[in-house]
Amino acid sequence: MPARPDKAPDSTNYEVKITEKPFNAQVIRSSSKEIVWDLSIGPIQFEDQFLQLSTRLPSKSVFGFGENEQPSFKHDFNWKSWGFFSRDQPPSNNGNMYGVHPFYMCLERDNMNAHGVLLLNSNAMDVLLQPAPALTYHTIGGVLDFYFFFGPSPEAVVQEYTSAIGRSYLPPYWALGFQLSRYDYGTIEQVKTVIDGMREYNIPHDIQYADIDYMERQLDFTVSATRYAGFKEYVDQVKLEGTRYITILDPAISGNESVGTYPPYDEGVVMDVFIKDEQGEIAYGKVWPDYPNITVDESKDWDYQTENYRAYAAFPDFLKSETKTWWKKQIKDLYDNKFKFDGLWIDMNEPASFVEGSVNGCSQNKWELPPFKPAIYGPRLADKTLCMSFQQHKTETEMTTHYNMHSLYGWSQTPVTLEAVQEATGKRSFVVTRSTYVGSGKYSGHWLGDNTSIWPHLHKSIIGMLDFSLFGVSYTGADICGFFEDTTEELCARWMQLGAFYPYSRNHNGKGWARQDPPFFGAAFANNSRDILHVRYELLPFLYTLHYESNTKGSTVIRPLLHEFTSDVLTHTIDRQFLWGPSLLISPVLDQGEVTVRAYFPEASIWYDFFTGKRLESGGYQVLDAPIEVINLHVRGGYILPTQMPDNSTMFSRLNPCGVIVAFDSDGNSEGNLFWDDGDSKDTVENGAYYLATYTASKTEMSLTSTIDKNVGGSADNLLLDNVKIWGISSVSAITLDGTTVPTSKYTYDSSANTLVITELGHDMTKPLNLKWTH
Ligand code: NOJ
Repeated sequence: MPARPDKAPDSTNYEVKITEKPFNAQVIRSSSKEIVWDLSIGPIQFEDQFLQLSTRLPSKSVFGFGENEQPSFKHDFNWKSWGFFSRDQPPSNNGNMYGVHPFYMCLERDNMNAHGVLLLNSNAMDVLLQPAPALTYHTIGGVLDFYFFFGPSPEAVVQEYTSAIGRSYLPPYWALGFQLSRYDYGTIEQVKTVIDGMREYNIPHDIQYADIDYMERQLDFTVSATRYAGFKEYVDQVKLEGTRYITILDPAISGNESVGTYPPYDEGVVMDVFIKDEQGEIAYGKVWPDYPNITVDESKDWDYQTENYRAYAAFPDFLKSETKTWWKKQIKDLYDNKFKFDGLWIDMNEPASFVEGSVNGCSQNKWELPPFKPAIYGPRLADKTLCMSFQQHKTETEMTTHYNMHSLYGWSQTPVTLEAVQEATGKRSFVVTRSTYVGSGKYSGHWLGDNTSIWPHLHKSIIGMLDFSLFGVSYTGADICGFFEDTTEELCARWMQLGAFYPYSRNHNGKGWARQDPPFFGAAFANNSRDILHVRYELLPFLYTLHYESNTKGSTVIRPLLHEFTSDVLTHTIDRQFLWGPSLLISPVLDQGEVTVRAYFPEASIWYDFFTGKRLESGGYQVLDAPIEVINLHVRGGYILPTQMPDNSTMFSRLNPCGVIVAFDSDGNSEGNLFWDDGDSKDTVENGAYYLATYTASKTEMSLTSTIDKNVGGSADNLLLDNVKIWGISSVSAITLDGTTVPTSKYTYDSSANTLVITELGHDMTKPLNLKWTH
């Protein structure tokens, strides 16, 4: 958070009214006099390990609070509690999950203004939503430290919130490509079979993952010499073919290796990097690494396996400088000596442990058994994690309990992991983390965790992404086709379609479930997957530009309709459709057996079918055809979307000709941007080493022009604008580019659809565009 200002601002768009007897505090929007907070509804309580505050809210249009599985994006105020405490918890029954974001956005009664509120507190807490409408916070530590963001639009709320907590990370271009993963391929041969299948069907494949099964006994920083023989060379080979590699790292480090055989632990002990118990000894839990020299019988139950096979594991204390140095060294050694990964996936960092508290249990004290337990999962706070009384760093010099630091664990691991991978690869790279906290989006993306291959989880994935947009984490997505359970061909086909529009687009599968990679289901499935991923790749310049805007302005990438059409109350409950930025509307099929979709089109705009360019005849709710190979996509009038010809990976697509889609609004105008850089260097935005162009089109002027707002670094030098699609245009008789006639062989005008398609225009994109037409 920014430093606390030392003086009050000269003017504000809010007032705070405090009355003493009886005590009340109100927070009021100055312009509309809307009371956004009113504490008269209940007492404030300050006790040791218990703080409570209640406020009346102006409306029930409240969004956010997480991380949990929410049945709808808009909250239910019927006495519903949400818990906050990071936990290794797959989405289930609305319980607290991997990350903690005590932030909400509220639409005020005028259906115009919005505000956001953050409670910056890392202790276990819950929030109770009541019909008044009102909210009650209970937290078992820290202070009541609230921040208000007055928007006034929902997008402005997120922009202000992210200006305070840090703006979303700009992923490298290739991280926007399609990604494939599974827990337990078993052997490198299985990985090769899958990748060969991807190649056979020409399915775009930018990233392949290595989950813990590629390791020796799930031991971080090792590679199985038997099951993954030749891994290093194989990684080098697939990288030449355009597919990069990401590997997983868990924080828990095995303490059961023979001295001198496992540097990550030995060096960690010497550098004193691990979290300690109350006696000052290294605290051990159990996670994935197995004991050395044992035979694992996987038919045994979970508890038997935990007790007999899982090693003692120590947990790095990431807020200590020695730990940072140590962690970076391990990552650098892995890169230098084992294989050339491109990014890192950090998992189990809630932190998760398979035994409650530690291998020796926990002591009985006020940290383990606080007088009040918020509405969170588990019988005790230490359930599935470390003892609350363990000691760890709060700052370089100050120590505190795990009780206070628990939900900050993944957050504290993230920036140093990003630095480590950037130093190892020398590139921008990226980190995707399971556990997040306020501000994590500045350093990483987030996948929505261990979902299940069931239909409701398609819908939930949209809600999860919409929530993380509010939390300032723009690079998100769920495991495509589902993690637990066997998927079905139909479910997976629909999920590939929806997942093609996740910013983080990864098909990931759990251990032991049936294959679900796109080649597995045969030619028809593979071809459909390729086609929809081609649409994604065509739109990657647009998606990258949205991420740039998110990174620099704080705007959302995955955007609810209500952010764009706030005064249209029907949009407030829509969470089965979503937008990319302001302009691409995605309306997926989310239910089994459906071949149509009922989708809402706000009347305030006009909408064009992405595939035909045809204007939708009317707005409001529409029932659209959606056979198994179709996902409905619509472009909003008034916007220009930059595109590029797709390919098997971004390594190739980045060399292809570009395009624009021009969709006119009802006044005959449209506008859009293209951000471009080399896609892979660190800090291109900070260093100003990028290209930015603005496109403007006008029906009255009969023109499409561009200005080059910036062109530093040469990344756009070879970009050619070849393909121009103009939608909503009534006739065309001639076209000129910079005054020279474009031959009729290069364009087609379709009078039934009112679309113009120009190909092979050959315009050098470093120069301003000046395209004109006549009727
Ligand atoms: C839990 C993660 O959520 C999942 O994605 C991963 O496959 C397993 N751990 C194994 O590493």
